[in-house]
Amino acid sequence: MNDLAGKHIVLGLTGGIACYKAAELCRALIKEGATVQVVMTEAAEQFITPVSMQALSNRPVYGSQWDAREPNNMPHINLSREADAILIAPCSADFMAKLLHGRSDDLLSLMCLARPIDKVPLLIAPAMNREMWAHPATQRNLTQLQADGATLLGVGSGFQACGETGDGRMLEPLELLEDVIAFFQPKVLAGHHVLVTAGPTYEAIDPVRGITNLSSGKMGFAIARAAHEAGARVTLVAGPVSLATPRGVTRINVKSAQNMLEAVVEYARDASVFIATAAVADWRPANAADQKIKKDGSGKTPQLSFVENPDILATLAQSERGKRGLTGQGEGLFCVGFAAESENLLANAQTKRLSKGVPMLVGNIGPATFGQDDNALLVLSEQGVQEFERASKLELARKLVASCAYATKDKA
Ligand code: C5P
Repeated sequence: MNDLAGKHIVLGLTGGIACYKAAELCRALIKEGATVQVVMTEAAEQFITPVSMQALSNRPVYGSQWDAREPNNMPHINLSREADAILIAPCSADFMAKLLHGRSDDLLSLMCLARPIDKVPLLIAPAMNREMWAHPATQRNLTQLQADGATLLGVGSGFQACGETGDGRMLEPLELLEDVIAFFQPKVLAGHHVLVTAGPTYEAIDPVRGITNLSSGKMGFAIARAAHEAGARVTLVAGPVSLATPRGVTRINVKSAQNMLEAVVEYARDASVFIATAAVADWRPANAADQKIKKDGSGKTPQLSFVENPDILATLAQSERGKRGLTGQGEGLFCVGFAAESENLLANAQTKRLSKGVPMLVGNIGPATFGQDDNALLVLSEQGVQEFERASKLELARKLVASCAYATKDKA
């Protein structure tokens, strides 16, 4: 995908060993369609050379406020006026302190101060030793920088170059990339709590065997990511899948349909949108054995009997809050179901929307999408039918999130 197509990012590097990660970040931003202008402080040049950054960004690197390459000799003005965002990664403790005071004795800090504050966002990815990070001065500076309009992209935790372990590492390049992409998405679900189910469920037969299905969870994970990008608080109740949790999303792992129902009921209490993408098993073994069922050599096979699982979506849709959410207005829960069909998509999805009692139902052809990275959707609601042509699951998820935002727009 080209999620940053048309975006011009000024990537500022300050002094810290995490500069080595900035090289990969620069590549990742460009791969996603952005153009990148690198600006480095003198301290950053101790860690990585401008030559490396020029080669990766395919543009000359700027380091001095006296750079005579600019006809007006004002690189701080020219560079900041062109930017869609300034991203400081790594941002040292010293540079944060400098930004806070509006000091501007080098090109990068001068450019941050000179940026049109309402048009050019400043994103910072701090990187420092854990003691420096935890120091009240740093935390105080951070709070003030955010109050002054900067966006903090957070820090990672773990082994640090100094040999200590704790908070303060710069986020990994791909984490920062995900955050930058999210930053540019419209915040159409700000103020909402979105609850998503995803993946298969696992219904135990005995302690080592069970019944599950081939759902990959990819559509639900993409929806959770898109809802987070759109500014919502997101809880993702996931069946057993090994997908990475989207950044900023709270993930609750569950196994069986009953576990999933319990988690959903709990987190739905203050949710305003519920999107059920999970492929929940319709039945579970009536009595899961406590111990592994052994073959006894007689050739006799175990007799399994089943009971029906609760319908999580229908339970929530028919709850008091679910009913109040039917119109998308007021304090209710707006429920969105999925239907995986193999034929007659429109007719089957229409029937399912009514039988589940949900305001919105998303139809897709199951066999054409299981495990794939793309899909095509039919979105049915009171307002009619929308067709989302084949695209990546993330693109479709963003469109679906926009439809939910539209349907609930007076709610947040
Ligand atoms: O009834 P069917 O499984 O075709 O319905 C699919 C929709 O209902 C999906 O949104 C799925 O997540 C949800 N569902 C559920 N609990 C079930 C079965 C399906 O939430 N037990």
